Amino acid sequence: MRDYDVVVVGAGGAGLRTAIESARDPSIRVAVVSKVYPTRSHTGAAQGGLNAALGNADPSDSPEAHAFDTIKGSDFLADQDAVYFMCQQAPEVVYELDRWGVPFSRLPDGRIAQRPFGGASFPRTVFSADRTGHVLLHTLFEQALARENIDFFNEFFLLDLLHDGQRVKGVVLYDIKNGEVITLRAKAVVLATGGFARIYWQRSTNAIGNTGDGVAVAFRNGIPLKDIEFIQFHPTGLSKTGILLSEACRGEGGYLINKLGERFMQRYAPAKMELAPRDMVSRAIEYEIREGRGFGEGTSAYVLLDLRHLGEAKIKERLPQVRQLAIDFEGVDPVYDPVPIRPTAHYCMGGIHIENYKTSSTPLEGLYAVGECACVSVHGANRLGGNSLIELLVFGKFAGISAREYAKQVDFLPITQGELRKGEEYIEKLFKREGTEKLADIRRRMGEITWEKVGIFRDEKSLSSAYEELSELLERWERIPVVDKSRIFNTNLIELLELRNMLELARAVAFCALHRRESRGGHYREDFPERDDDNFLKHSLVWQDGDRLRLEYKEVRITHHQPAERKY
Ligand code: FUM
Repeated sequence: MRDYDVVVVGAGGAGLRTAIESARDPSIRVAVVSKVYPTRSHTGAAQGGLNAALGNADPSDSPEAHAFDTIKGSDFLADQDAVYFMCQQAPEVVYELDRWGVPFSRLPDGRIAQRPFGGASFPRTVFSADRTGHVLLHTLFEQALARENIDFFNEFFLLDLLHDGQRVKGVVLYDIKNGEVITLRAKAVVLATGGFARIYWQRSTNAIGNTGDGVAVAFRNGIPLKDIEFIQFHPTGLSKTGILLSEACRGEGGYLINKLGERFMQRYAPAKMELAPRDMVSRAIEYEIREGRGFGEGTSAYVLLDLRHLGEAKIKERLPQVRQLAIDFEGVDPVYDPVPIRPTAHYCMGGIHIENYKTSSTPLEGLYAVGECACVSVHGANRLGGNSLIELLVFGKFAGISAREYAKQVDFLPITQGELRKGEEYIEKLFKREGTEKLADIRRRMGEITWEKVGIFRDEKSLSSAYEELSELLERWERIPVVDKSRIFNTNLIELLELRNMLELARAVAFCALHRRESRGGHYREDFPERDDDNFLKHSLVWQDGDRLRLEYKEVRITHHQPAERKY
């Protein structure tokens, strides 16, 4: 067992930004745990940019305008005080990244460039071509490496949290490289493990590893999850694979066209067109396909993203990765041909319930959560593109301060021999398990259920059937054997652990979606197509008690803007 003041689980943007802040005091020992090498974290896949009202592209922009756009985009489910806090802090964390060396794209006069993004009233998205997440992740990793009081535990899988019911005590980890189970005792633990949109196994922009490990571990330890029925489907995934083609394509002026050659967004969002919020654009694409104005059939049906009019030079300068992805994975060069696209699961608006947005604290003392695994809530029912990276920077910074200051005030709690043995006993039990179920079959079926029954369109019948079937899959999970008995880099074992996490979260998503009998943001109920503020202007909070799920609702904090119909 090793002792750390602060243990951060996750080494993407959220985890690294948190660790850097916690480590500002050299007397604080920080551990960063990651199941992949840090620069392979999913933050690196973020393409289009991050929002901050710098006013460089349009001096009329302001943090207040950013906050209003975010609240409207959220379909009024975001907590407005938290949104204002994020938008006011956003410029400072961007300038800090600039000082740390992030190579942002520039205006001719040298200031940081900003591009239009969906649902925004000004060009506000700061970017580095279409590789923003990649450069941000690498810069944060450099900063973290430079701090001598941060230790990295790379390729360690989170098995469990240790706590006494009131306070966190540490984490139990599985070393993927050699199969050892280790315990890190901690005064404060910060979960920054990312989202779980891989529950949509067949069609997702997410890295294969985005299996919600921290969210599921928190859930199993009695921490409620908030608003997890709200899943974002990004409008422009490559049709064959679901790989992301950035919203920057539309921000730079790309069109969406149907089989008739129409820019069909005219029908759905005449003022904003392709730059309406993602929930609206995704539904519009699906309506076009349903009504026979798409191309192809079944799950491979699609519409087209047309960039040709932007010209080769602009595509190569602003969208080089998009171009390469389209060539490599769809066989289409956007300089010459429109690209087949269809919505794809992208982001989880909900996550671990945060009680205090200024500290990122959860209901368990000493436990914090930040980034996509957490629900602050600043995205409500629909996140605006570009608000994910800014969220993890702002709240990562403040979570880092909170964890550091908390750790200075408390002592370590004792850890029993039983607690030290529990993780190894669990792994041994898995290795001894017998059964005939196949991991790949259950994972594939999970993906079919989520896509078909908990997807862009939902209703009572599809959701209750999804809930039943996912519960059955969870039972079947108990009968999947570990076929590979090795302790060295056993991906079979890791995939089994990940699948349990995904199944538990997928079932909870279906459960919360079933009980939200209204349509709001990314949650569209065909049987309840209207937003219902009288009954559902509320956050959902779900607990897992043993095998049962329990749901409660909590008021939304409306501090600045009364809910109104969303029109674009
Ligand atoms: O489309 C994109 O570049 C993704 C950005 C985001 O999800 O914020």
